[in-house]
Amino acid sequence: MRCIADSALTPSPSPTLPAPAPPVPLRGFQLRDVPHVAAIVTEALHENYDPSLYVSLSDAWPDGFLIATESLGQPIGFLLGVSQIEGEGRVLMFAVDREHRRGGVGTALMDEFLRRARDRGLRRATLEVRVGNATAIRFYTRYGFSVIDLLRGYYSDGENGYQMARDLP
Ligand SMILES: CC(C)(COP(=O)(O)OP(=O)(O)OC[C@H]1O[C@@H](n2cnc3c(N)ncnc32)[C@H](O)[C@@H]1OP(=O)(O)O)[C@@H](O)C(=O)NCCC(=O)NCCS
Repeated sequence: MRCIADSALTPSPSPTLPAPAPPVPLRGFQLRDVPHVAAIVTEALHENYDPSLYVSLSDAWPDGFLIATESLGQPIGFLLGVSQIEGEGRVLMFAVDREHRRGGVGTALMDEFLRRARDRGLRRATLEVRVGNATAIRFYTRYGFSVIDLLRGYYSDGENGYQMARDLP
């Protein structure tokens, strides 16, 4: 008969742990990124903006516009943050190319954005998200964002939005 101690002493085959994911390369926005960022925005956010928008928002807070790249430097995701209210950073656009999602790219972008926001002395971060975007809401909730307002008909197709916010301790 085997007792519990016996089974505890029996060496079990060691599970094969997945190799740690390599760090996601991040850099600042560059003019040549515009077509890539615009393509991600069209696919992921279903919006089309004048290219000059990216440039002018980048000029306002260059460190708030982060680009995640694959190994050759091509953008695979981005986070565009602005700071239009004293002490507050706002995630204006945030998206990762569909093929590269669920691999930690969004996490790398958000971690770095929050670090830069704190470095700038910002005390609060806000964002807006479609009420039906469960994936993004779950992601933001994991980051400590919570819903502070319902924005009726906020999006161009009439969908409601949530405003979410968190403190930056
Ligand atoms: C929201 C978004 C930016 C997240 O980007 P992402 O690169 O997929 O983010 P991550 O990979 O870091 O994390 C996503 C999830 O995958 C999980 N994950 C990360 N690496 C993983 C891996 N190797 N294997 C399995 N799951 C993984 C994370 O834990 C996270 O879980 P969660 O769903 O509980 O939050 C992305 O889904 C996106 O671009 N969506 C479309 C655009 C959009 O909705 N933007 C927000 C508008 S407000």
